[in-house]
Amino acid sequence: QPLKPWGGRFSEATDAFVERFTASVGFDQRLYHHDISGSIAHATMLARVGVLTETECREIVDGLEAIRGDIEAGTFNWSVSLEDVHMNVEAALTERIGPTGKKLHTGRSRNDQVATDIRLYLRDEIDTVDAELTRLLTGLLDLAEREAGTIMPGFTHLQTAQPVTFGHHLLAWFEMLQRDAGRLADCRKRLNQSPLGAAALAGTTYPIDRAYTAELLGFTAPTENSLDSVSDRDFGVEFCAFAALLMTHLSRASEELVLWASAQFDFIALPDRFCTGSSIMPQKKNPDVPELVRGKTGRVNGHLVSLLTLMKSQPLAYNKDNQEDKEPLFDTIDTVKDCLRAFADMVPAIEANREAMYAAAKRGFATATDLADYLVGRGIPFRDAHDIVGKSVAYGIDQGRDLAEMTLQELQQFCAIIEADVFDVLTLEGSVAARNHIGGTAPSQVREAVGRARRRIAAG
Ligand code: ARG
Repeated sequence: QPLKPWGGRFSEATDAFVERFTASVGFDQRLYHHDISGSIAHATMLARVGVLTETECREIVDGLEAIRGDIEAGTFNWSVSLEDVHMNVEAALTERIGPTGKKLHTGRSRNDQVATDIRLYLRDEIDTVDAELTRLLTGLLDLAEREAGTIMPGFTHLQTAQPVTFGHHLLAWFEMLQRDAGRLADCRKRLNQSPLGAAALAGTTYPIDRAYTAELLGFTAPTENSLDSVSDRDFGVEFCAFAALLMTHLSRASEELVLWASAQFDFIALPDRFCTGSSIMPQKKNPDVPELVRGKTGRVNGHLVSLLTLMKSQPLAYNKDNQEDKEPLFDTIDTVKDCLRAFADMVPAIEANREAMYAAAKRGFATATDLADYLVGRGIPFRDAHDIVGKSVAYGIDQGRDLAEMTLQELQQFCAIIEADVFDVLTLEGSVAARNHIGGTAPSQVREAVGRARRRIAAG
């Protein structure tokens, strides 16, 4: 059994269950890379201010790099009795380089150490998530451009409302996800400060150079307040809030993909490689990928609530409660990366069934509003126009025919001022083309919106 680094004032060994109960090494070992980078920066700073000699610093840095190599090679021996990643690495350092290893923790606490590690780790993961999100956004733009002129029914209340273009619908997803990317960038900005030097809670008596460690680790500045530095995990909450919103958006998109892939809608086909079959029903091709993304939204939303609840009653400064920040955060990162990867791979492979979308848009009186607008253009007040068209729709339901399928004489029964040019606005193409303004569904507007979106992405 390795001795506890904090064992001096204790007179009996830790209870075996308590040792396991309080240990985090089973899950926080994934912080090893950033823990070692943080320690190297700390040792480098200690040498610069004269607390360590250059030789001691060299030994420590070389030892830590060798330990990093061992961990990466899978030959490192993790010990539960050393509790967490920090004490495992520190104990291994002393074992490897001797007494100089014991000097690394000068002017530092695990409290500022772990706060630094999580920030460094999360910052890298944010960059990975951002790259996957950008890949998805780009895939959406490509598909939206390809389908800029594809007409489908637009829905409210899942009832046919007005015709839209499929490209326009995809650009709605794009907007939601690009706002998520903005939230992610905000989160990164705020977390990018260095807590190193806060030590346990009050700072330290050594002549440390916090700006230097901040710079070495790529932080924009040292944090302002030592108590806050070791105690808050608001950056983790912010990331989980970003993730919950992102997953909520992906879940809504998933729901639509699942509906559209059904025989009843038949708007899209997902390639076989993104689907699975049934062990009993030979005909089945199930949209498991979007279903799972929809399902995984639950755990990500749950992790956000876990972290908020974890923080809500903690007095300043550090409390062991904070050790519970890791699993929700790690699982959120893993889940979000997987879901983004699934979507970024799948979206470019979505095959639109343009004929089925068009046929669906022709059912359900999707151009009724266009007829009302036509009447308004001929001087009829909108409320009266609404009523006239409502009666025409009732007639159409009775006859089993859409507005565009009626004769001019039939339409004129409801309003004498209707003329032959009415059929221009009753077509699906006329309807979408008429919504020709920024944010509208006209194919030309969709193409322009794609162009603007591409420039936004390029601008970062
Ligand atoms: N494993 C701990 C955590 O994750 C590291 C900090 C522990 N500090 C302490 N004083 N017990 O939060």
